[in-house]
Amino acid sequence: MKATAKAHTNIALIKYWGKRDESLILPMNNSLSLTLDGFYTSTTVEFRNDLLEDVFYLDDKTVTGNEYYRVTSFLDLIRKQAGNDGLFAEIRSANQVPTAAGFASSASGFAALATAAVKALGLPYSNQELSVLTRQGSGSACRSIYGGFVEWQQGTKADGTDSYAVQVANANDWDIRVAAVVLSSDAKKVLSREGMKRTVETSPFYSGWLESVPSDLQAIKAGIKEKDFEQVGSISEANCLRMHATTLGANPPFMYWQSTTFLIMEAVRALRADGISAYFTIDAGPNVKVLYMPKDEEAVQHKLRSVPGVRNVIVSRPGSGISCM
Ligand code: PMV
Repeated sequence: MKATAKAHTNIALIKYWGKRDESLILPMNNSLSLTLDGFYTSTTVEFRNDLLEDVFYLDDKTVTGNEYYRVTSFLDLIRKQAGNDGLFAEIRSANQVPTAAGFASSASGFAALATAAVKALGLPYSNQELSVLTRQGSGSACRSIYGGFVEWQQGTKADGTDSYAVQVANANDWDIRVAAVVLSSDAKKVLSREGMKRTVETSPFYSGWLESVPSDLQAIKAGIKEKDFEQVGSISEANCLRMHATTLGANPPFMYWQSTTFLIMEAVRALRADGISAYFTIDAGPNVKVLYMPKDEEAVQHKLRSVPGVRNVIVSRPGSGISCM
């Protein structure tokens, strides 16, 4: 009744932004991500008959409050599916991710938790079933089941059984790099859950966002297939800007970027003006990820590290999907 699993985070190139069902976590649009080898969560789940409630340790510290509640209510789902309502677990997670600063720790966290819990209970889940389950912990986490380029298909069913991720290209298919530029490890002010809800409900730009996603998806998938870096990079950057534009139209309006975020966007544009192919993308926080080709490693690193306010630059390659130990 004990298992350990590891899952990597992913960075969305075509963003998931907005839910059509809040409780099942069903998205308004398909999204596409790249799993990153540099950031991951390892989680051990042990179900024990002597426990009267779940206990959750993150990096050896006991977790309480909202974060604890999210984890136990997610385990409730799994307990229900296993027909094991009264069985509680000790959960130990170690995060190789700067938590809640726009680095999707919830993606690797819920993917590792679901995988370990299902294995510990001996449930014979396929990766597809695991993706459906993981989605209900955190939407973007359903993509972390797989390595490489991954599409989350929004599905059409009301029960969410056809809303899961599929792999588009393997991690070994294309050697590209993603630099995570760390500006701030402070917790973000508007969580993605709340940010999405507010833009769906109030932003007049939201319908424009939704209209733009299908053609972005089609073009980026063609770019991945052809290994056309300019195509993949430029579509990712434009899609990111359009997602963030919806937040400016929300009521009350909000913005995830800080002044250093703008400086990095300018640095990436300056790299391009110098003939270096680099593109940025940003999730629901101030930190920027920069996509580039391995041959440009030195120039990109040098440029990003010279931007005032940059605390660190962490380089990832395409990462693999979940693994069990
Ligand atoms: O899965 P959540 O609730 O952490 O939302 C993720 C939202 C974005 O990171 C902004 C986009 C995405 O597709 O990952």
